[in-house]
Amino acid sequence: METKIYTAQELSAAAAQLRAGELVAFPTETVYGLGADATNTAAVKKVYQAKGRPSDNPLIVHVADVETVTQYAATLTPTVKKLMDQFWPGPLTIILKLKPQALAEVVTGGLSTAAFRNPRQPLTNALIKAAGVPLVGPSANTSGKPSPTTAAHVYHDLHGKIAGILDAGPTEVGVESTVLDMSAKTPTILRPGAVTRADLLPLLGEVLEQQPLVGKTEIPKAPGMKYTHYSPAAAVQIVDDDQQWTPATAWIATQSDPVGVLATEQQINMRKWPKNAHVISLGTDINTASQRLFAGLRQFDLQPEIKHILVTAFPRTGLGDAYMNRLEKAAGQKHFISL
Ligand code: TXA
Ligand code: MG
Repeated sequence: METKIYTAQELSAAAAQLRAGELVAFPTETVYGLGADATNTAAVKKVYQAKGRPSDNPLIVHVADVETVTQYAATLTPTVKKLMDQFWPGPLTIILKLKPQALAEVVTGGLSTAAFRNPRQPLTNALIKAAGVPLVGPSANTSGKPSPTTAAHVYHDLHGKIAGILDAGPTEVGVESTVLDMSAKTPTILRPGAVTRADLLPLLGEVLEQQPLVGKTEIPKAPGMKYTHYSPAAAVQIVDDDQQWTPATAWIATQSDPVGVLATEQQINMRKWPKNAHVISLGTDINTASQRLFAGLRQFDLQPEIKHILVTAFPRTGLGDAYMNRLEKAAGQKHFISL
């Protein structure tokens, strides 16, 4: 199958493919999603195939308005309505109890709940409206690889396996949406994102956070959290602070292979890098770093001679919580430790 790149002007052709049960990747403000008609079981099955994703991992249903959610969700409580009012369109995914049999098992992974999200990227909403159906949209990467933040990333992973990609340039946020479970007794963040616990607290009063699952045996609430994620082929290590970059730079110099480095502009300018350091800038702050993290990891993945990647940590406040969550998964918790 040839994978066509659609521009914003060609949106109606992309929507026609979706209506015909084909897969079209679409941009959102977070990462690119792999779109299929959420009401078409055969189309949704193809999504798992294309990604190589385990089929017990449920999908997010992308909608262009709140009305669509009322067709599927058991009830929309006043609190849930307020949530949608305040944070939609935007990077917040809300898990709700479903009406019986409202969505196919391939969408929900057999759960009695589903995840809903109304993205803020205008082109996504235009596509959903033109398709006339809600769209499932897992991140449009091969399962296990970093999520795609450009159409080129999607093409790299999925060309030949999907009908098209709607291209709107690099995504704005760079890390996936916050997943908030509103079907739980107490609202619980299952995956941190750009909408933070601090953003949600004034409205919800109480918000729990699912603790990282590393080393734990219990079954995760968001099934996706149990699978390997964001893993480039090279070994990733976290460099905890500016001071640690000094021994880290010395360590790079002892290596015979090239080493990938993802650091801030300030950290890059502070020191002289060994010749074998391949340095990519994460920009000036947590916003630019979140935008560029996955692209940086993918860039090094294209260079098989790079066996090690060092990446700067950020404080776990605001968007830093989501950034560190993704980075720790990519690094499998490994921190650079100077001996
Ligand atoms: O930003 C995003 O959310 C992107 C863009 C494309 O919208 N999508 C995305 O989808 O990241 P995906 O499938 O890669 O991640 C969805 C996460 C998975 O960890 C999945 O297990 C969880 O949400 N999830 C989906 N439905 C769920 C449910 N009913 N209960 C618990 N977790 C659920
Ligand atoms: Mg994903």
